[in-house]
Amino acid sequence: MNKKFYITTPIYYVNDKPHIGSAYTTIAADVLARYHRMIGDRTFFLTGTDEHGAKIEKTARKAGQEPKKFVDELAAKFELAWDELNISNDNFIRTTDKKHVSAAQKALEYLYEKKYIYKGQYTGLYCVGCEQYKTAKDLVNGKCPDHGTEPEKMKEECYMFKLSAFQSKLFDLIKKDKLLISPVERKNEVISFLEKNKLEDISASRKNVKWGITLPWDKEHTTYVWIEAFLNYLTGLGWSGENKTPSPLEGEGWGEVWPPDVQLMSKDILRVHATIWPALLLAIDLSLPKQIFVHGFFLVDGQKMSKSLGNVISPEDLIKKYGVDGARYLLMSATPFGHDGDVSWKKFDEKYNADLANGIGNLSARSITLAEKTQNSKLKTQNNNSPAARGSAEQVKFKNEVSKAWKEFIKNLNNLEIDRALFYINFQMKYLDNYITENKPWELIKKKDEKVGIIMYNILEGLRQIAWMLWPFMPQTSEKIWEQLGLDVSQELAKNFKEATQWGGLKPGTKVKKGEVLFPRI
Ligand code: MSP
Repeated sequence: MNKKFYITTPIYYVNDKPHIGSAYTTIAADVLARYHRMIGDRTFFLTGTDEHGAKIEKTARKAGQEPKKFVDELAAKFELAWDELNISNDNFIRTTDKKHVSAAQKALEYLYEKKYIYKGQYTGLYCVGCEQYKTAKDLVNGKCPDHGTEPEKMKEECYMFKLSAFQSKLFDLIKKDKLLISPVERKNEVISFLEKNKLEDISASRKNVKWGITLPWDKEHTTYVWIEAFLNYLTGLGWSGENKTPSPLEGEGWGEVWPPDVQLMSKDILRVHATIWPALLLAIDLSLPKQIFVHGFFLVDGQKMSKSLGNVISPEDLIKKYGVDGARYLLMSATPFGHDGDVSWKKFDEKYNADLANGIGNLSARSITLAEKTQNSKLKTQNNNSPAARGSAEQVKFKNEVSKAWKEFIKNLNNLEIDRALFYINFQMKYLDNYITENKPWELIKKKDEKVGIIMYNILEGLRQIAWMLWPFMPQTSEKIWEQLGLDVSQELAKNFKEATQWGGLKPGTKVKKGEVLFPRI
């Protein structure tokens, strides 16, 4: 039986349209999901929108709209943006979905019955921008460092979640990598936070926020978003909130997919994902995610993206300029995965020209033009993969290079080193480009040297396989390359991983079909 792979992105707040920050996490998850499908894993990829809470209610009212209408419109914009980016999510969960609401209510009731939720009072500071309670230590000059605003002083009756009961258990699980947090610096950050701070119980409900899920036993209260929103990772699989200890459902239905293998996010929401989220799962007796992977934050020209600075880049802007695959590639290659990065239009332009127009675009155009030339020549073997050719030193050496590239591809994507996987694909493309330059097939054609058959087969089969390596990153580009190679795209896509990566996928004698320029220069 194939392995399962369940990957999630955070669900994004719908207080604004998607930008390249949310697109970055979503594309990265898509690359990993496509990779796991490609190697044959039973893959489930979940993303969606987080639609309740004070912040969204406030933004909707400011825009003169009812919250429901407001979130409907924005959620549709997210779905459309992900469609345009060719994101292959298996479900798009919205926290206003009826099923999510009823499952969250059931789960909360269960926690209330088990006394993990109890009535209390919360006094403290609250940042609406983060939808999070703040301690004095979290603030810089009395303001939230992420939002630059002073948190509101709050004193309200609320239901509390017994987060404090889970401190030592969480510490242990994270320390021993039972809940793996990576990169390791991020794990150390959480460990040191748990060593230095006592986890306090948190508010599980708000009394004065109407835009939320009401508590079934006390209709005056709505759930606090950072409790309810986490449950999306379960409801997105069809979990109904049913709880028995141990859950009889785990192992079948939604439980076949549970728990997440990788949860992607940026550092802004790591702490809540490393505390409230696993504590909730422990309280409702479900197994914990295997890995939380924290990637970096994007700055634009060295500054945080913000509406007031006017430097917000939307995925739509990127697609307009560089095409869908261009946008996907530029975001994935912008920074080492797991580290912060600074992007700019200038850097995007340079990278586009270097890696896409001059890189894969030029390589495939060059290869296809040469194939046309050999096809139009009077040569007997236009591309040669006969047993003799396969045994030739020429082809053995070439095949070894391709299998080395596959090893790097698998190793890096298994380790979530997305940018390194891209580095090796580019390395393989350069190898092929140099191979063409060194072997000068155009001269062999002129000289009517039949050796060109072996060289051309290497080039074209090498290109077919490179297109497979590119597929998780730039699926449309791979398909265009296969088409130009004269392959039937649906047949190519129907291949399993072994067939796709086996030498000889291109039948000798296949006529190439020159097509459009893949990446016109900017
Ligand atoms: N709704 C919560 C998440 C709830 S999950 C149960 C939330 N939403 S958010 O819209 O603010 O999205 C935060 C996530 O968006 C980050 O963790 C990150 O994945 C992505 N990014 C948002 N801005 C980003 C950058 N500038 N750079 C990189 N990623 C960024 O928090």
